[in-house]
Amino acid sequence: MKIVLLLLLCAAPAAAFIPEMVERLWPELTDKLDTFSGIAKIPYLSLINDDSSIDSNLLESMKQFGFFYVVDVPEYDASVEQDYMKAFFDLDDDVKDEIAIRRHNPANKNAYRGYCPGLDDVENTLQYKNLYNIGPHETRAPTYEHDDSDIYAKLRYDCMEPNVWPETGNCTFDKGFKETFQAGFEIRRNIGRAFIRSIARAMEYPNLPTLFTEDEFSAMGLRKYPIRKKINSNMYSDFDGTLLRELEHIDSTVTVLSTFNNEGLEVLYKNQYRTVPVTGENSFLVNIGKLVDDLIDNKVPAVRHRVAEVDFDRYSVTYFLGPQFDADISRSMTGKLTDAGQKYTIFGEWIKDYLGAIELFYY
Ligand SMILES: *[C@@H]1O[C@H](CO)[C@@H](O)[C@H](O)[C@H]1NC(C)=O
Repeated sequence: MKIVLLLLLCAAPAAAFIPEMVERLWPELTDKLDTFSGIAKIPYLSLINDDSSIDSNLLESMKQFGFFYVVDVPEYDASVEQDYMKAFFDLDDDVKDEIAIRRHNPANKNAYRGYCPGLDDVENTLQYKNLYNIGPHETRAPTYEHDDSDIYAKLRYDCMEPNVWPETGNCTFDKGFKETFQAGFEIRRNIGRAFIRSIARAMEYPNLPTLFTEDEFSAMGLRKYPIRKKINSNMYSDFDGTLLRELEHIDSTVTVLSTFNNEGLEVLYKNQYRTVPVTGENSFLVNIGKLVDDLIDNKVPAVRHRVAEVDFDRYSVTYFLGPQFDADISRSMTGKLTDAGQKYTIFGEWIKDYLGAIELFYY
């Protein structure tokens, strides 16, 4: 009798202890088990229609894992996007050069939107990818007035660079491509904004959405990471030696990601990189980066992630939603000085430096 009682008393704590022990002794096994099975899967319509019953589930998932999925997107088929992407990157170089950023093709005006073929020194760098960048503007705003009282006028103007779209000579393709990614942009923008509203409700930060009423510089990137023909020493993780396709990093703003059925994405969870389920045909993955994390007082992790090396051309779509141009990013929702606030007041200043890396403002 005494023994039975003892067993009963021990059984409950032991049951809780076993997964932890498995995790410590056989981390690869835990990775295969469902580490991420508790991640929230939020239906698209509930999210964008501000159904507040999803808020706590979404916030819990963000707090625990640093991301969640948006599922059941009506009239959306990721494979159509991926097929168009493949066709785009397979176009002849002279067709793509027509819409290449001016750093690559000095005859062009576009500095940021459009095609960016990636680095020339392919074999010796890790960050090898082809990119095509789409934003929210189709037409150029009227030429900016030179106005000394508004030091941001030119910057604001530069930020609102219109899109450039491929002209292949095949009108069916060109129209289908443009319509597909304009629609895809809208879906991702809806998700980004609705996510901000949801966490604003859940965290009781009613002013958070007012920083996101405009999205002058939201950006959708179609990415192709080509198969690498040669491995170099820059491709190994400093963290655990894994061979990588994309370096370990955290993002800056709000990210809405499509990985299609392409494996490789890993996030850091409990001090270990673990495989993240793909977004497949009809879902998106949402996470936040450092800048937004600081705005909400670091109550949710800006999750560190990377892409492990895979043996195929890997396609993904990123969408980044930043605060509006004039948003004060120097203080968090509770008034604490943010990291960005040590150098910048408004988001426009921050984006200027960010874009400086690709020379937008130095022509
Ligand atoms: C034009 O594009 C459409 C849609 O992508 C494709 O089905 C068709 O085969 C293309 N036509 C030619 C002549 O390449």
